[in-house]
Amino acid sequence: MYYAVHLAAECYPIAKVGGLGDVVGALPKYLNEAGISSCVLMPKYNVKYNRDHSTETIYTGTCGNENYWFEYSIQRYSDAPLGFDVFLVDIPPYLFREGVYGYEDDSIRFIYFQQAALDWICSWQTKPSVFHAHDYHAGLVPFMINHCYNFGTLAGIKTVFTIHNGLYSGDFSHALARFFPHFPREANGYLDWDHRINPLATAIKCSNKVTTVSGGYLEELQYQPNPYTWLYKEYAFKSTGIVNGIDAALWNPKTDDYLHTKLKKDFAKFKQANKEALCASVGLDASKPLVVFIGRLNQEKGGEILCEGVGKFMAQTQEMNFFLLGSGDSNLENNLRVLTGFYPQNVANYIGYNEALAHNLYAAADFLLMPSLVEPCGLNQLYALRYGTIPIVRTVGGLKDTVVDFGEEGGYGIRFNQPHAGDVVMSLYRAKELYADKTRLKQVQDKAISLDFSWELAVKKYIYLYEN
Ligand code: GLC
Repeated sequence: MYYAVHLAAECYPIAKVGGLGDVVGALPKYLNEAGISSCVLMPKYNVKYNRDHSTETIYTGTCGNENYWFEYSIQRYSDAPLGFDVFLVDIPPYLFREGVYGYEDDSIRFIYFQQAALDWICSWQTKPSVFHAHDYHAGLVPFMINHCYNFGTLAGIKTVFTIHNGLYSGDFSHALARFFPHFPREANGYLDWDHRINPLATAIKCSNKVTTVSGGYLEELQYQPNPYTWLYKEYAFKSTGIVNGIDAALWNPKTDDYLHTKLKKDFAKFKQANKEALCASVGLDASKPLVVFIGRLNQEKGGEILCEGVGKFMAQTQEMNFFLLGSGDSNLENNLRVLTGFYPQNVANYIGYNEALAHNLYAAADFLLMPSLVEPCGLNQLYALRYGTIPIVRTVGGLKDTVVDFGEEGGYGIRFNQPHAGDVVMSLYRAKELYADKTRLKQVQDKAISLDFSWELAVKKYIYLYEN
Protein backbone atom coordinates (compact mmCIF):
# COMPACT_ATOMS: atom_id res chain seq x y z
CA MET A 1 0.00 0.00 0.00
CA TYR A 2 1.22 3.47 -0.85
CA TYR A 3 1.51 5.63 2.25
CA ALA A 4 2.29 9.36 2.27
CA VAL A 5 3.38 11.11 5.44
CA HIS A 6 2.91 14.87 5.44
CA LEU A 7 4.96 16.94 7.87
CA ALA A 8 4.00 20.54 8.53
CA ALA A 9 3.78 23.25 11.16
CA GLU A 10 0.14 24.07 10.39
CA CYS A 11 -2.99 22.10 9.62
CA TYR A 12 -6.52 23.50 9.52
CA PRO A 13 -8.66 23.36 11.68
CA ILE A 14 -6.09 22.48 14.34
CA ALA A 15 -3.66 25.34 13.83
CA LYS A 16 -3.74 27.79 10.95
CA VAL A 17 -1.75 30.95 10.44
CA GLY A 18 -2.12 31.20 6.68
CA GLY A 19 -2.76 29.28 3.49
CA LEU A 20 -0.25 26.58 4.46
CA GLY A 21 -2.73 25.42 7.11
CA ASP A 22 -5.58 25.29 4.61
CA VAL A 23 -3.58 23.17 2.19
CA VAL A 24 -2.25 20.73 4.78
CA GLY A 25 -5.78 20.42 6.17
CA ALA A 26 -7.20 19.47 2.76
CA LEU A 27 -4.63 17.79 0.51
CA PRO A 28 -4.31 14.57 2.63
CA LYS A 29 -8.09 14.19 2.70
CA TYR A 30 -8.33 14.36 -1.08
CA LEU A 31 -5.29 12.08 -1.49
CA ASN A 32 -7.05 9.55 0.73
CA GLU A 33 -10.16 9.80 -1.41
CA ALA A 34 -8.03 9.19 -4.49
CA GLY A 35 -6.56 6.03 -2.94
CA ILE A 36 -3.25 7.37 -1.59
CA SER A 37 -3.31 6.81 2.16
CA SER A 38 -2.05 9.96 3.84
CA CYS A 39 -1.51 11.26 7.33
CA VAL A 40 -0.24 14.48 8.86
CA LEU A 41 2.41 14.84 11.52
CA MET A 42 2.49 18.19 13.26
CA PRO A 43 3.60 19.73 16.55
CA LYS A 44 1.16 19.72 19.44
CA TYR A 45 0.47 23.36 20.30
CA ASN A 46 -1.57 24.79 23.14
CA VAL A 47 -4.35 25.94 20.81
CA LYS A 48 -8.12 25.90 21.19
CA TYR A 49 -8.62 22.83 19.02
CA ASN A 50 -6.29 20.85 21.24
CA ARG A 51 -7.97 22.10 24.39
CA ASP A 52 -11.37 21.08 22.99
CA HIS A 53 -10.36 17.64 21.66
CA SER A 54 -9.01 14.84 23.78
CA THR A 55 -6.01 12.84 22.63
CA GLU A 56 -4.46 9.51 23.46
CA THR A 57 -0.75 8.79 23.62
CA ILE A 58 0.30 6.06 21.23
CA TYR A 59 4.09 6.20 21.59
CA THR A 60 6.69 7.70 23.87
CA GLY A 61 10.35 8.04 23.14
CA THR A 62 13.58 9.83 23.80
CA CYS A 63 15.80 11.23 21.11
CA GLY A 64 18.64 13.59 20.39
CA ASN A 65 22.32 13.04 21.07
CA GLU A 66 24.22 12.37 24.28
CA ASN A 67 24.43 16.08 25.16
CA TYR A 68 21.05 17.29 23.99
CA TRP A 69 18.29 14.79 24.36
CA PHE A 70 14.60 15.21 25.03
CA GLU A 71 11.50 13.15 25.65
CA TYR A 72 8.52 13.23 23.37
CA SER A 73 5.26 11.47 22.83
CA ILE A 74 3.08 10.91 19.81
CA GLN A 75 -0.62 11.49 20.26
CA ARG A 76 -3.73 10.94 18.26
CA TYR A 77 -7.21 12.47 18.61
CA SER A 78 -9.80 10.23 20.20
CA ASP A 79 -12.32 11.28 17.55
CA ALA A 80 -11.24 11.45 13.91
CA PRO A 81 -13.45 13.88 12.05
CA LEU A 82 -10.93 15.26 9.57
CA GLY A 83 -10.85 12.62 6.86
CA PHE A 84 -7.19 11.74 7.50
CA ASP A 85 -5.04 10.71 10.46
CA VAL A 86 -3.28 13.41 12.40
CA PHE A 87 -0.40 12.53 14.70
CA LEU A 88 0.74 15.15 17.14
CA VAL A 89 4.34 15.38 18.22
CA ASP A 90 4.24 16.44 21.84
CA ILE A 91 7.36 17.98 23.35
CA PRO A 92 5.73 20.19 25.96
CA PRO A 93 8.54 22.59 26.90
CA TYR A 94 9.21 23.38 23.25
CA LEU A 95 6.05 22.94 21.23
CA PHE A 96 3.08 23.29 23.57
CA ARG A 97 2.64 27.04 23.24
CA GLU A 98 -0.24 29.27 22.24
CA GLY A 99 1.40 30.43 19.03
CA VAL A 100 2.70 28.43 16.11
CA TYR A 101 5.69 30.63 15.36
CA GLY A 102 7.41 33.72 16.57
CA TYR A 103 9.46 32.39 19.48
CA GLU A 104 13.15 32.96 19.98
CA ASP A 105 13.82 29.24 20.01
CA ASP A 106 11.80 28.45 16.86
CA SER A 107 14.86 26.90 15.24
CA ILE A 108 15.30 24.38 18.03
CA ARG A 109 11.55 23.79 18.25
CA PHE A 110 11.36 22.68 14.63
CA ILE A 111 14.64 20.74 14.72
CA TYR A 112 13.16 18.77 17.62
CA PHE A 113 9.76 18.35 15.98
CA GLN A 114 11.35 16.78 12.92
CA GLN A 115 13.66 14.55 14.94
CA ALA A 116 10.88 13.22 17.14
CA ALA A 117 8.65 12.56 14.14
CA LEU A 118 11.39 10.57 12.40
CA ASP A 119 12.40 8.77 15.56
CA TRP A 120 8.84 7.50 15.93
CA ILE A 121 8.61 6.47 12.28
CA CYS A 122 11.78 4.41 12.66
CA SER A 123 9.72 2.15 14.93
CA TRP A 124 7.09 1.46 12.24
CA GLN A 125 7.02 -2.04 10.84
CA THR A 126 6.06 -0.81 7.39
CA LYS A 127 7.82 2.33 6.35
CA PRO A 128 6.13 5.22 4.50
CA SER A 129 6.38 5.34 0.72
CA VAL A 130 6.99 9.07 0.69
CA PHE A 131 7.70 11.92 3.06
CA HIS A 132 5.97 15.08 1.93
CA ALA A 133 7.45 18.04 3.79
CA HIS A 134 5.78 21.45 3.65
CA ASP A 135 7.82 24.65 3.97
CA TYR A 136 11.04 25.07 5.87
CA HIS A 137 9.67 23.90 9.24
CA ALA A 138 9.85 20.36 7.86
CA GLY A 139 12.68 21.07 5.42
CA LEU A 140 15.34 19.16 7.32
CA VAL A 141 13.52 15.85 6.94
CA PRO A 142 15.10 14.90 3.57
CA PHE A 143 18.53 15.63 5.06
CA MET A 144 17.92 13.86 8.35
CA ILE A 145 16.66 10.60 6.86
CA ASN A 146 19.57 10.36 4.46
CA HIS A 147 22.45 11.58 6.64
CA CYS A 148 21.70 11.19 10.35
CA TYR A 149 22.90 7.82 11.66
CA ASN A 150 19.89 7.42 13.96
CA PHE A 151 17.50 7.41 11.04
CA GLY A 152 19.41 4.97 8.88
CA THR A 153 16.39 2.72 8.44
CA LEU A 154 14.58 5.58 6.68
CA ALA A 155 17.41 6.40 4.26
CA GLY A 156 16.32 6.31 0.65
CA ILE A 157 12.60 6.82 1.30
CA LYS A 158 11.45 9.28 -1.33
CA THR A 159 10.86 12.88 -0.34
CA VAL A 160 8.78 15.69 -1.79
CA PHE A 161 9.30 19.23 -0.56
CA THR A 162 6.56 21.78 -1.22
CA ILE A 163 7.32 25.48 -1.03
CA HIS A 164 4.31 27.50 0.07
CA ASN A 165 6.36 30.53 0.83
CA GLY A 166 9.95 30.83 -0.34
CA LEU A 167 10.53 34.11 1.49
CA TYR A 168 11.08 32.27 4.75
CA SER A 169 14.07 29.96 4.98
CA GLY A 170 14.30 29.39 8.74
CA ASP A 171 18.08 29.81 8.65
CA PHE A 172 20.19 29.65 11.80
CA SER A 173 23.77 29.50 12.96
CA HIS A 174 25.87 26.37 12.44
CA ALA A 175 26.32 26.37 16.22
CA LEU A 176 22.83 24.90 16.51
CA ALA A 177 23.97 21.76 14.70
CA ARG A 178 24.67 20.51 18.22
CA PHE A 179 20.91 19.93 18.57
CA PHE A 180 20.92 17.55 15.59
CA PRO A 181 21.40 13.81 15.85
CA HIS A 182 24.89 12.91 14.67
CA PHE A 183 25.73 13.04 10.98
CA PRO A 184 29.06 12.79 9.15
CA ARG A 185 30.98 16.04 8.79
CA GLU A 186 31.12 15.76 5.04
CA ALA A 187 27.33 16.08 4.87
CA ASN A 188 27.58 19.59 6.29
CA GLY A 189 27.54 21.10 2.81
CA TYR A 190 23.93 20.03 2.33
CA LEU A 191 22.92 22.14 5.31
CA ASP A 192 24.88 25.22 4.40
CA TRP A 193 23.80 28.27 2.50
CA ASP A 194 25.74 31.48 2.97
CA HIS A 195 27.55 30.14 6.03
CA ARG A 196 24.37 29.33 7.89
CA ILE A 197 22.23 26.24 8.22
CA ASN A 198 19.32 26.91 5.91
CA PRO A 199 16.38 24.45 6.06
CA LEU A 200 14.83 25.82 2.85
CA ALA A 201 18.05 25.44 0.85
CA THR A 202 18.74 22.05 2.47
CA ALA A 203 15.33 20.78 1.43
CA ILE A 204 15.82 21.95 -2.15
CA LYS A 205 19.16 20.16 -2.30
CA CYS A 206 18.19 16.93 -0.54
CA SER A 207 14.63 16.14 -1.62
CA ASN A 208 13.75 14.00 -4.62
CA LYS A 209 11.12 16.42 -5.89
CA VAL A 210 10.52 20.08 -5.20
CA THR A 211 7.15 21.63 -5.83
CA THR A 212 5.88 25.16 -5.57
CA VAL A 213 2.21 25.97 -5.27
CA SER A 214 1.99 27.40 -8.79
CA GLY A 215 4.03 27.31 -11.97
CA GLY A 216 4.10 31.10 -12.15
CA TYR A 217 5.75 31.27 -8.74
CA LEU A 218 8.36 28.66 -9.65
CA GLU A 219 9.39 30.74 -12.66
CA GLU A 220 9.67 33.83 -10.50
CA LEU A 221 11.87 31.98 -8.03
CA GLN A 222 14.10 30.83 -10.87
CA TYR A 223 14.35 34.09 -12.75
CA GLN A 224 13.69 36.99 -10.41
CA PRO A 225 16.38 38.15 -8.02
CA ASN A 226 16.31 36.29 -4.70
CA PRO A 227 19.01 34.63 -2.60
CA TYR A 228 18.31 31.18 -4.07
CA THR A 229 17.98 31.72 -7.84
CA TRP A 230 21.08 29.63 -8.39
CA LEU A 231 19.58 26.74 -6.40
CA TYR A 232 16.21 26.95 -8.13
CA LYS A 233 17.88 26.87 -11.53
CA GLU A 234 20.29 24.11 -10.58
CA TYR A 235 17.43 21.92 -9.37
CA ALA A 236 14.91 22.88 -12.04
CA PHE A 237 15.04 19.29 -13.32
CA LYS A 238 13.28 18.01 -10.22
CA SER A 239 10.93 20.96 -9.69
CA THR A 240 7.31 21.52 -10.72
CA GLY A 241 4.53 23.95 -9.94
CA ILE A 242 1.18 22.54 -8.87
CA VAL A 243 -1.61 25.02 -8.25
CA ASN A 244 -3.43 24.39 -4.97
CA GLY A 245 -7.02 23.34 -4.90
CA ILE A 246 -9.61 24.56 -2.46
CA ASP A 247 -11.61 22.44 -0.09
CA ALA A 248 -14.84 22.60 -2.04
CA ALA A 249 -16.75 20.93 0.78
CA LEU A 250 -15.71 23.61 3.25
CA TRP A 251 -16.00 26.54 0.85
CA ASN A 252 -19.44 25.86 -0.47
CA PRO A 253 -21.93 28.76 -0.51
CA LYS A 254 -24.79 26.25 -0.41
CA THR A 255 -23.73 24.60 2.85
CA ASP A 256 -21.40 27.12 4.52
CA ASP A 257 -22.66 27.37 8.10
CA TYR A 258 -20.78 30.58 8.75
CA LEU A 259 -22.93 32.49 6.26
CA HIS A 260 -25.74 34.84 7.13
CA THR A 261 -27.69 33.47 4.12
CA LYS A 262 -26.77 30.32 2.20
CA LEU A 263 -27.10 30.01 -1.55
CA LYS A 264 -30.33 28.39 -2.63
CA LYS A 265 -31.11 28.78 -6.31
CA ASP A 266 -30.91 32.45 -7.05
CA PHE A 267 -27.36 33.74 -6.95
CA ALA A 268 -28.39 37.42 -7.09
CA LYS A 269 -30.60 37.01 -4.03
CA PHE A 270 -27.80 35.20 -2.17
CA LYS A 271 -25.34 38.01 -2.81
CA GLN A 272 -27.87 40.72 -2.02
CA ALA A 273 -28.98 39.19 1.28
CA ASN A 274 -25.42 38.69 2.50
CA LYS A 275 -24.32 42.09 1.32
CA GLU A 276 -27.21 43.88 3.01
CA ALA A 277 -26.65 42.04 6.28
CA LEU A 278 -22.95 42.74 6.31
CA CYS A 279 -23.29 46.40 5.30
CA ALA A 280 -25.99 46.95 7.91
CA SER A 281 -23.72 45.51 10.60
CA VAL A 282 -21.08 48.19 9.97
CA GLY A 283 -23.18 51.03 8.56
CA LEU A 284 -22.19 50.85 4.89
CA ASP A 285 -24.58 51.68 2.05
CA ALA A 286 -25.34 48.35 0.34
CA SER A 287 -26.24 49.98 -2.97
CA LYS A 288 -22.58 50.81 -3.65
CA PRO A 289 -20.11 48.23 -4.89
CA LEU A 290 -18.34 46.49 -2.01
CA VAL A 291 -14.64 45.64 -2.24
CA VAL A 292 -13.00 43.52 0.44
CA PHE A 293 -9.47 42.64 1.44
CA ILE A 294 -8.84 39.54 3.55
CA GLY A 295 -5.37 38.57 4.63
CA ARG A 296 -2.15 39.34 6.32
CA LEU A 297 -1.21 43.00 6.43
CA ASN A 298 2.37 42.99 5.31
CA GLN A 299 4.48 44.11 2.44
CA GLU A 300 4.40 40.75 0.71
CA LYS A 301 0.62 40.80 0.50
CA GLY A 302 0.66 44.38 -0.77
CA GLY A 303 -0.47 45.94 2.50
CA GLU A 304 1.20 49.25 1.68
CA ILE A 305 -0.27 49.74 -1.77
CA LEU A 306 -3.61 48.54 -0.45
CA CYS A 307 -3.86 51.37 2.06
CA GLU A 308 -2.37 53.94 -0.28
CA GLY A 309 -4.53 52.84 -3.23
CA VAL A 310 -7.78 52.80 -1.28
CA GLY A 311 -6.90 56.16 0.27
CA LYS A 312 -6.22 57.75 -3.12
CA PHE A 313 -9.35 56.28 -4.62
CA MET A 314 -11.50 57.53 -1.74
CA ALA A 315 -10.05 60.99 -2.11
CA GLN A 316 -11.39 61.00 -5.69
CA THR A 317 -14.75 59.29 -5.31
CA GLN A 318 -16.75 57.76 -2.53
CA GLU A 319 -18.91 55.69 -4.84
CA MET A 320 -17.47 52.46 -3.55
CA ASN A 321 -17.25 50.80 -0.14
CA PHE A 322 -14.51 48.75 1.44
CA PHE A 323 -14.25 46.19 4.21
CA LEU A 324 -10.66 45.41 5.09
CA LEU A 325 -9.97 42.39 7.31
CA GLY A 326 -6.47 41.55 8.41
CA SER A 327 -3.69 41.87 10.87
CA GLY A 328 0.06 42.12 10.68
CA ASP A 329 2.43 45.09 10.63
CA SER A 330 1.27 47.56 13.24
CA ASN A 331 1.78 50.62 11.03
CA LEU A 332 -0.42 49.05 8.35
CA GLU A 333 -3.03 48.18 10.94
CA ASN A 334 -2.96 51.84 11.94
CA ASN A 335 -3.34 52.89 8.33
CA LEU A 336 -6.57 50.90 8.17
CA ARG A 337 -7.85 52.62 11.28
CA VAL A 338 -6.97 55.99 9.80
CA LEU A 339 -8.81 55.14 6.56
CA THR A 340 -11.92 54.19 8.51
CA GLY A 341 -11.53 57.31 10.62
CA PHE A 342 -11.46 59.49 7.51
CA TYR A 343 -14.24 57.70 5.64
CA PRO A 344 -16.44 56.03 8.26
CA GLN A 345 -19.30 55.71 5.80
CA ASN A 346 -17.20 53.94 3.21
CA VAL A 347 -14.43 52.00 4.87
CA ALA A 348 -14.96 49.37 7.56
CA ASN A 349 -12.18 47.31 9.04
CA TYR A 350 -11.58 44.39 11.33
CA ILE A 351 -8.06 44.12 12.68
CA GLY A 352 -7.44 40.51 13.54
CA TYR A 353 -8.13 37.01 12.32
CA ASN A 354 -11.75 35.95 12.01
CA GLU A 355 -12.64 32.86 9.98
CA ALA A 356 -16.42 33.40 10.26
CA LEU A 357 -16.20 37.01 9.15
CA ALA A 358 -13.96 36.02 6.25
CA HIS A 359 -16.59 33.59 4.95
CA ASN A 360 -19.25 36.28 5.23
CA LEU A 361 -17.08 38.78 3.40
CA TYR A 362 -16.65 36.43 0.43
CA ALA A 363 -20.41 35.99 0.31
CA ALA A 364 -21.23 39.67 0.68
CA ALA A 365 -18.60 41.33 -1.49
CA ASP A 366 -18.72 42.21 -5.16
CA PHE A 367 -14.94 42.32 -5.46
CA LEU A 368 -11.94 40.94 -3.59
CA LEU A 369 -8.73 42.96 -3.78
CA MET A 370 -5.38 41.11 -3.68
CA PRO A 371 -2.58 43.56 -4.44
CA SER A 372 0.16 41.06 -3.50
CA LEU A 373 3.75 41.85 -4.32
CA VAL A 374 4.50 38.13 -3.96
CA GLU A 375 1.90 35.36 -4.13
CA PRO A 376 3.04 31.73 -4.32
CA CYS A 377 -0.49 30.54 -5.07
CA GLY A 378 -3.12 32.49 -3.22
CA LEU A 379 -6.28 30.79 -2.05
CA ASN A 380 -8.47 33.80 -1.35
CA GLN A 381 -9.06 34.52 -5.03
CA LEU A 382 -10.22 30.92 -5.43
CA TYR A 383 -12.56 31.13 -2.42
CA ALA A 384 -13.91 34.42 -3.78
CA LEU A 385 -14.68 32.93 -7.20
CA ARG A 386 -16.68 30.17 -5.54
CA TYR A 387 -18.87 32.85 -3.93
CA GLY A 388 -19.24 34.85 -7.15
CA THR A 389 -16.91 37.59 -5.95
CA ILE A 390 -14.71 39.04 -8.68
CA PRO A 391 -11.00 39.03 -7.81
CA ILE A 392 -8.93 42.16 -8.46
CA VAL A 393 -5.35 40.91 -8.43
CA ARG A 394 -1.83 41.86 -9.29
CA THR A 395 -0.42 39.73 -12.09
CA VAL A 396 2.04 37.71 -10.02
CA GLY A 397 2.75 34.07 -9.03
CA GLY A 398 -0.35 31.96 -8.57
CA LEU A 399 -2.64 34.93 -9.17
CA LYS A 400 -1.28 35.09 -12.70
CA ASP A 401 -2.03 31.38 -13.15
CA THR A 402 -5.57 31.44 -11.78
CA VAL A 403 -7.16 34.78 -12.71
CA VAL A 404 -8.03 35.82 -16.27
CA ASP A 405 -8.90 39.47 -16.85
CA PHE A 406 -12.50 40.05 -17.91
CA GLY A 407 -11.19 42.06 -20.85
CA GLU A 408 -10.08 38.75 -22.35
CA GLU A 409 -12.26 36.03 -23.85
CA GLY A 410 -13.92 34.10 -21.02
CA GLY A 411 -12.25 36.25 -18.34
CA TYR A 412 -13.61 36.60 -14.82
CA GLY A 413 -11.31 38.93 -12.90
CA ILE A 414 -9.43 42.22 -12.99
CA ARG A 415 -5.65 42.20 -13.25
CA PHE A 416 -3.02 44.90 -12.90
CA ASN A 417 0.72 44.70 -13.34
CA GLN A 418 2.64 47.27 -11.39
CA PRO A 419 3.00 47.04 -7.60
CA HIS A 420 1.95 50.67 -7.21
CA ALA A 421 -1.03 52.42 -5.69
CA GLY A 422 -1.79 53.99 -9.09
CA ASP A 423 -2.51 50.56 -10.58
CA VAL A 424 -4.75 49.74 -7.61
CA VAL A 425 -6.72 52.94 -8.20
CA MET A 426 -7.05 52.22 -11.91
CA SER A 427 -8.33 48.70 -11.19
CA LEU A 428 -10.87 50.03 -8.73
CA TYR A 429 -12.19 52.32 -11.46
CA ARG A 430 -12.49 49.34 -13.77
CA ALA A 431 -14.38 47.49 -11.04
CA LYS A 432 -16.70 50.46 -10.56
CA GLU A 433 -17.48 50.51 -14.29
CA LEU A 434 -18.06 46.79 -14.42
CA TYR A 435 -20.42 47.03 -11.47
CA ALA A 436 -22.43 49.71 -13.26
CA ASP A 437 -22.87 47.46 -16.34
CA LYS A 438 -25.26 44.90 -14.86
CA THR A 439 -25.36 42.63 -17.93
CA ARG A 440 -21.60 42.38 -18.15
CA LEU A 441 -21.30 41.97 -14.38
CA LYS A 442 -23.69 39.03 -14.44
CA GLN A 443 -21.74 37.36 -17.27
CA VAL A 444 -18.51 37.71 -15.31
CA GLN A 445 -20.12 36.44 -12.10
CA ASP A 446 -21.68 33.47 -13.88
CA LYS A 447 -18.29 32.57 -15.27
CA ALA A 448 -16.70 32.91 -11.82
CA ILE A 449 -19.13 30.52 -10.13
CA SER A 450 -18.83 28.00 -12.94
CA LEU A 451 -15.10 27.50 -12.39
CA ASP A 452 -13.72 24.42 -10.71
CA PHE A 453 -10.63 24.82 -8.56
CA SER A 454 -11.31 21.82 -6.37
CA TRP A 455 -8.52 19.53 -5.21
CA GLU A 456 -9.27 16.67 -7.61
CA LEU A 457 -7.07 18.07 -10.37
CA ALA A 458 -4.16 19.03 -8.11
CA VAL A 459 -4.31 15.66 -6.40
CA LYS A 460 -3.87 13.89 -9.75
CA LYS A 461 -0.71 15.89 -10.29
CA TYR A 462 0.66 15.02 -6.85
CA ILE A 463 -0.08 11.34 -7.44
CA TYR A 464 1.75 11.48 -10.75
CA LEU A 465 4.67 13.04 -8.91
CA TYR A 466 4.64 10.37 -6.20
CA GLU A 467 4.50 7.64 -8.82
CA ASN A 468 7.54 9.13 -10.52
C1 GLC B 1 1.29 30.61 1.56
C2 GLC B 1 1.34 31.51 0.33
C3 GLC B 1 0.04 31.48 -0.45
C4 GLC B 1 -0.38 30.04 -0.71
C5 GLC B 1 -0.43 29.27 0.58
C6 GLC B 1 -0.83 27.81 0.41
O1 GLC B 1 0.45 31.17 2.53
O2 GLC B 1 1.66 32.85 0.70
O3 GLC B 1 0.18 32.16 -1.67
O4 GLC B 1 -1.63 30.01 -1.33
O5 GLC B 1 0.82 29.30 1.23
O6 GLC B 1 0.03 27.12 -0.46
